[in-house]
Amino acid sequence: MNLASIQAAESKLLLNTYERNPLLFLTGRGVYLRDENGQDYLDLLSGIGVNALGYAHPAIEEAIVRQSKRLIHTSNLFFHEHTAPLARRLTEISGLDRVFFTNSGTEAWEAALKLARANAGRLRSQGRNIGTGFLALDHSFHGRSMGSVATTAKEKYREPFMPVMPGVEFVRFNDVADLRIKFSSEICGICIEPIQGEGGIHPVSQEFFAAARELCDSTGALLLADEIQCGLGRTGKWFAYQHYNILPDVTTLAKPIANGIPMGAMLCTNAAAESITPGMHGTTFGGNPFACAIAIAVIDTIQRDNLLHQIQTVGSYFHEELSKLAARHDCIVDVRGIGLMLGLELNSADLAKQIATALMDRRIIVNRTSETVLRFLPPFILERSHVDTAIAALGETITAAFAGTAPAGEKTHG
Ligand SMILES: Cc1ncc(COP(=O)(O)O)c(C=O)c1O
Repeated sequence: MNLASIQAAESKLLLNTYERNPLLFLTGRGVYLRDENGQDYLDLLSGIGVNALGYAHPAIEEAIVRQSKRLIHTSNLFFHEHTAPLARRLTEISGLDRVFFTNSGTEAWEAALKLARANAGRLRSQGRNIGTGFLALDHSFHGRSMGSVATTAKEKYREPFMPVMPGVEFVRFNDVADLRIKFSSEICGICIEPIQGEGGIHPVSQEFFAAARELCDSTGALLLADEIQCGLGRTGKWFAYQHYNILPDVTTLAKPIANGIPMGAMLCTNAAAESITPGMHGTTFGGNPFACAIAIAVIDTIQRDNLLHQIQTVGSYFHEELSKLAARHDCIVDVRGIGLMLGLELNSADLAKQIATALMDRRIIVNRTSETVLRFLPPFILERSHVDTAIAALGETITAAFAGTAPAGEKTHG
């Protein structure tokens, strides 16, 4: 099968949910994907923040082979050898106490929402005054299931499926006054992505995060930090909330946790966990021996290869180089992000689309989010030389986009 025949078959057989790029990848190695014609692509997106260790990483290959020969699935009715070791690693690096494993990000987020409701119910049974509502942020993205879309800001993702979960109010991003006005004893959880991903790579401010923590402490509501995109090392710390020195009550993980094997996790404090008893929540696949074994290999490799340090140094270099480009090109409005979660905002959606396509033509994979933002979520094993390649291509594509139109999108002064 070639690309054209696959496209034709998919158009008749699949639900029409994705606008795919016309590329057919067959293999991958390191930070490169290889297409059907044997052409290599520098991958600065890593499967939307998933392939943290890149492609064909020996530690992942070894874990996959080993565990597939031992045991893939038994159900959560029985114990297996990897659950506790993985949960121990996750609790140690997060500062939280307990883990619930899922198959995806949105399931982890649903578990977080349910936990906030259950926690409020437990507090009410103790005579505390706490309701069932949630506060979420403008530009937020928490997934596609009903609770997740209810806490996701973009109308387009919610409107066709109304009514979604009621009781969610959106707070203006980083607006502490708005947060304080909208918070009350009616709220059982505040939903925050410490660095918003789909929303355009926007870090929450220290002041806003601290205010959310303080408000939750005042009533017993839970502070829910969605780290599905920004967590597990992507920002150079295990969790983005660690940049703020704020511990949430709950955090969610998914994307990179098992390097492409579907998996997610919700982590919480012992206090929040008290509201859950057997049978209240569960999953068939979540936390099976196969996914857990791969997740252990991911965490151990990040630790053994000192990748958090590499993410910090290569990420800072990438950020600096993007900022230098911004200084040269008026069409770049902003450079944002931490570690290897970076965004370059351009002054128009058309331009961002044009640049993303031009980079793809040069075999560099980036993605456009929030219309005007080029998003970089490369594998954690990215090196400075890859950044140099990307920056050179970006500079050239921006200049080319303005070719024939003076002054070529470049700064003529200053
Ligand atoms: C912050 C955040 N939360 C939740 C999700 C949903 O994860 P999944 O697509 O695995 O359900 C995503 C996915 O992009 C995300 O970025």
